[in-house]
Amino acid sequence: MAGKQNTRKKNLKDSYTVPGIDVEDGQKLAQQLQSCLHNLNDLHLTLKHAHWNVVGPKFIGVHKMLDPQVDAVREMTDTVAERMATMGVPPVGTPGALVRDRDWEDYSIGLAQASEHLGALDRVYSRVIENHRRVLDMAGDIDPITEDMLIGQTGEMEQYQWFVRAHLQDDEGQLSTSSATSEKEAAAQAMEGDRAID
Ligand SMILES: [Fe+2]
Repeated sequence: MAGKQNTRKKNLKDSYTVPGIDVEDGQKLAQQLQSCLHNLNDLHLTLKHAHWNVVGPKFIGVHKMLDPQVDAVREMTDTVAERMATMGVPPVGTPGALVRDRDWEDYSIGLAQASEHLGALDRVYSRVIENHRRVLDMAGDIDPITEDMLIGQTGEMEQYQWFVRAHLQDDEGQLSTSSATSEKEAAAQAMEGDRAID
C-alpha cells in the first residue's frame, strides 16, 4: 500500500508545471523555491521571537515595529508555497523539515536589549535576501512570473532591513555592526555603537 502511494506521489510530482515552460525546468525552479519557503518560515518565527524578547529603553518602538514585519513575511510564505504547488511541486512547511534542511544555526539571541536584537536581525535579513536573490536569478532564465514574485518580496524585505539598519547607523550613515561575523558579534557591536552615540 505504502509503495503504491509512493508511486502515485511520484507520478503526480513529475506530471506538470505551469503552461508555456518546460516541465523539468519549472519543477527544478519550484524545488529551489523550497529554500525560500524555509528561509521565510524561519524569518517570521525569528522576528516574533525578537518581538517577545526585546527589553530596554527602545522596547516599545522595536516591539511594535516587528509585528507588521512578522505578518508581511508570513504572507510571503503563503505566496511562495502556493507558487510551488501551482508549478507542480508540493511545498513542505513542517518545522522538522525546516530544521533538517536548513544550513544555518538557530537564532542565537534571547532576552536582550533592542540594539542587540537589531544587530542580529540585520544578519538574518541578509541571509534570507541573499537566498531570494539567488533563486530570482535562476527564475529570470525560466519563469518571469516567479521572478516577479521574488523581486517584489525581496524589495519588501530590503525595506524592512533598512528599518532595522537605521537603528544601527551613526550620523555619517556607518553601520555599527559592519565588521561583525556572527549574530553575537553583531549584537555586541550594536550595543557598543549605542554607547558611542549616547
Ligand atoms: Fe505581540
